[in-house]
Amino acid sequence: MEQVLVRASRVYEVIIGEGVLSELGLRAAALLRGRRAVIVTDSNVGPLYARRTEETLRDAGFAVTTFTFPAGEASKNPGTLLELLTFFAKQELTREDVVIALGGGVTGDLAGLAASLYLRGVPCIQVPTSLLAMVDSSVGGKTAVDLPEGKNLVGTFTQPYLVLCDITTLDTLPKEVFEEGMAEVIKYGMIRSKELLELLLTDDAERKRERVIAQCVRLKRDVVAEDEQDFGERQILNFGHTLGHAIEREMNYKLFHGDCVAIGMAIMTRALVRDGRCPESCEKILEKLLKKYKLPNSTELPSERILAAARADKKRRGEKITLIEPKTLGNCVLVKTDFAELARLLELGR
Ligand code: GLY
Repeated sequence: MEQVLVRASRVYEVIIGEGVLSELGLRAAALLRGRRAVIVTDSNVGPLYARRTEETLRDAGFAVTTFTFPAGEASKNPGTLLELLTFFAKQELTREDVVIALGGGVTGDLAGLAASLYLRGVPCIQVPTSLLAMVDSSVGGKTAVDLPEGKNLVGTFTQPYLVLCDITTLDTLPKEVFEEGMAEVIKYGMIRSKELLELLLTDDAERKRERVIAQCVRLKRDVVAEDEQDFGERQILNFGHTLGHAIEREMNYKLFHGDCVAIGMAIMTRALVRDGRCPESCEKILEKLLKKYKLPNSTELPSERILAAARADKKRRGEKITLIEPKTLGNCVLVKTDFAELARLLELGR
């Protein structure tokens, strides 16, 4: 088992290990005064893990109810958020009680946002069950739902009370969902860790999953500790995401988030190498890793559509956007640029 302490506006632990889901009840009871818990989960994860989650909470003295919504990004909207808030009200949830986000990134973002809004803040424990949620979205306090105008446009920064990653839940994850999570893992290597890139190249990330997840969480912890509210350094975590989010939206969320991030990282790295601003080794290693972990590196979408969607990105500041540029292996820098330059790079990198 690995434990990582996150020091943000709340200090909390991220526990990573086999079977740690069974510790949820006791860990939650030790952290909280209330004894009412609402589990939020989706129609894929609920049938697999809701019962075990309910049991561990009940054994620790919690009264438990479960809210299940249809799996998929389409549910991450203000309508589902309102349904969830109404459910909390019907359960008479108080600020001493707890919301348990059981599932992948959509569940964590939605439940985290609802918990942060209800009564101006009810404790939330993240129990991520996908690789992507374990290494990225469950840690660091970003919560959100989408609007038709763009992804994650309505949200808060609200840190969880605990993140519990039971890596055995990855066993039931469809292969392609594990693979999309690998895009975020590769991202961490590209932005901050040559050592992680080497591990991913020479070893099998799935076999070493506990170590790999803990390594990503440590990297994210350091970034979040420095810039919790995403005003500067934290934007480094958006490598591949400006183009990635735009592609995701233009594909109507039919392509996985991780796949879109992989395409975004590949286009940007190719462009910067061709522009003489990034060593070829970055492109070579990135392409090798994308291939090894079965991730895409290009899209057929017309550039105009990608650019139009990128303009609606929440990361935009006026006419400027921050690009994340690989400089050496395991090191990226932030560069403020305009949309004309983004358009030029997009053409160059395709
Ligand atoms: N997923 C990017 C961040 O947490 O900032």
